[in-house]
Amino acid sequence: MSRTIVVLAGDGVGPEVTAQAVRVLEAASTKYSLGLEFEDALIGGAAYDAAGSPLPDATVKACRASAGILLGAVGGPKWADIPVQHRPEQGLLAIRKALGLFANLRPVTTMPELAAASPLKPEKLAGVDILVIRELTGGIYFGKRSRSADAAFDTCEYTVAEIERVCRVAGTLAMNRRRKVTSVDKANVLDTSRLWRDVATRVFRTEFPQLTVEHLLVDAAAMHLLSRPADFDVMVTENMFGDILTDEASMLAGSMGLLPSASLGNGSGPGLYEPIHGSAPDIAGQGVANPCGTILSAAMLLRHSLGAEAPAAAIEGAVAAAIRAGARTRDIAASGARDWLGTAAFTDVVLRNLAAH
Ligand code: IPM
Ligand code: MG
Repeated sequence: MSRTIVVLAGDGVGPEVTAQAVRVLEAASTKYSLGLEFEDALIGGAAYDAAGSPLPDATVKACRASAGILLGAVGGPKWADIPVQHRPEQGLLAIRKALGLFANLRPVTTMPELAAASPLKPEKLAGVDILVIRELTGGIYFGKRSRSADAAFDTCEYTVAEIERVCRVAGTLAMNRRRKVTSVDKANVLDTSRLWRDVATRVFRTEFPQLTVEHLLVDAAAMHLLSRPADFDVMVTENMFGDILTDEASMLAGSMGLLPSASLGNGSGPGLYEPIHGSAPDIAGQGVANPCGTILSAAMLLRHSLGAEAPAAAIEGAVAAAIRAGARTRDIAASGARDWLGTAAFTDVVLRNLAAH
């Protein structure tokens, strides 16, 4: 079995955060004899600049042959005006589609030590432990679209099979958690959402009868995420709703920079692991980006693609211990604090914790 991790650093802060996550993976590989190897490949604006495409064929080939893919971020103002099919984001959407990565797992947890970094009151944040499953290869992101000088359209389509498979992932994961699923749609307005609700209802009732299931409209879900976040266990939703709700949910944790994700397919190929944040061009190159989301994504890679649960848990523990001990990157530091750490220095603390564990 391949032990090669393909690293798609991408744009903006992507190379800074993936470099630190690779340091952590190298340390875990040595400590736990995982035999990991690393191979860099191009994606996004960096790939467009070097090879004329945001997703060169060589990248797809390397990804297909890998054990797992670690991605930083894509996009930036430099590529804002290039033709749509060459935009950096297209590279990311295309690799998700090419590898059939239909289920995007985005865990959101809170730590009391970071309560001040969240705009919510601490009592709302206690006990928050949500796993959002975002459908990733369908919906309005991939539907028919067109633009002319004075009009444009995008379309949202879902098939029964697409909804069934992502609900099965949600159901399976919920069985090992608190056994509650919230399915999010806009069934009062959209036909795709009415189909979504019918299929979700059937899949959960017939295949996961032990689960408690609730259905929420997406506007209400956005509100409930702030009013009662600790009530949620697994949330499952379509592509664009999941994109929006997880940026919102990141503020429960305290910063976009904290949240990891895993994009998984039917199990026959590698998964792709990336922080949920973007390329953050405003801080790129300064060495101040929060590496937690990417380091925690690397832990998810070990868990989901290599079955290496102990090293994954050790990395997660090392990140949590760093935060508990007071290490902060700028985005999660107290306002006015000067003793925050840069991307590499924060990772140094994580590495020390990992070694000591
Ligand atoms: C994300 C990002 C991407 C998305 C962009 C960069 C295409 O926002 O992974 O959440 O919308 O899926
Ligand atoms: Mg997003």
